[in-house]
Amino acid sequence: MSAAPAPTPTAGTRLFALLGDPVSHSLSPTFQNAALRALGLDGVYVALRCGADELPGLLRGIARAGGGGNVTVPHKALAAATVERPSDAVRRTGACNAYWLEDGAIHGDNTDVAGAAAAVSLVLGRAPAGARVLLLGAGGAASAVVCALADAGVERIAIANRTVERAGGLAERYRAPGVRIDVADSADALSGERFDLAVNTTSLGLKPGDPLPLDPDATRVEIGAALDVVYTRTGTRWTDEMRARGLPAIDGKEMLIQQGAAAFRRWWGMDPPLDVIRVALEE
Ligand code: ATR
Repeated sequence: MSAAPAPTPTAGTRLFALLGDPVSHSLSPTFQNAALRALGLDGVYVALRCGADELPGLLRGIARAGGGGNVTVPHKALAAATVERPSDAVRRTGACNAYWLEDGAIHGDNTDVAGAAAAVSLVLGRAPAGARVLLLGAGGAASAVVCALADAGVERIAIANRTVERAGGLAERYRAPGVRIDVADSADALSGERFDLAVNTTSLGLKPGDPLPLDPDATRVEIGAALDVVYTRTGTRWTDEMRARGLPAIDGKEMLIQQGAAAFRRWWGMDPPLDVIRVALEE
């Protein structure tokens, strides 16, 4: 399929920028620009590599000029401290991945939370309320997933992370009435248990030789569905293995799409065409 010609920028073109380091591998410019072109919107999305010293000035300048964008590693916490109107998700996670100008103020959201909520519902095939979830990993991605799960009213979250103190920090942060959150240093410690869903938020699966984040042959933990935050061009070995066992499983591309779609709604006040985004990511 041939790409639609890029529209010529005008004096009214809104600039959207991904700020982080590194940014050159990011797929956000590819699918955000595809969505802009499909809807004929006068905007352009670029990726700007920047250090912590430059981030606040760039973010404020781009937003004040009527634009916005995303923030990625390692600046999400700094962005949370820079925006003037942090969303509830930003306040609770301490991380901001989307910024824009609205009513004269710089707003920030953490759309990784909305992206995680959408992907969880999709793989479960229902709203997550009452579900029992095994979460593998306890870093930044895990934080957004726990926030989404706690909001959705799951019954239990078991966080397994090799550095168990980090898991304990997340459990403390998202403690909420009605949600049981407990921690373990590995999924083996949960042997004999059954979960509706396992979510991999570790980096395992990014490299070809990586072990599986949860090996169904080696652990006695039963799961009903699998969601991977990791994605590669060809999917992930973990989601392939789970699907081969007849379980619903989706990789991190869906969360990438859903967090980007949530950001697009904040910036433009309309839904992006998800089919166009999916095609752009396939190419
Ligand atoms: P992100 O922002 O993508 O979540 P991160 O904050 O660096 O990245 O977190 C990476 C997660 O992957 C952590 O939970 C990390 O475990 P530790 O907290 O013990 O470091 C986990 N991780 C990375 N490499 C791993 C490995 N080889 N085995 C198990 N867990 C791993």
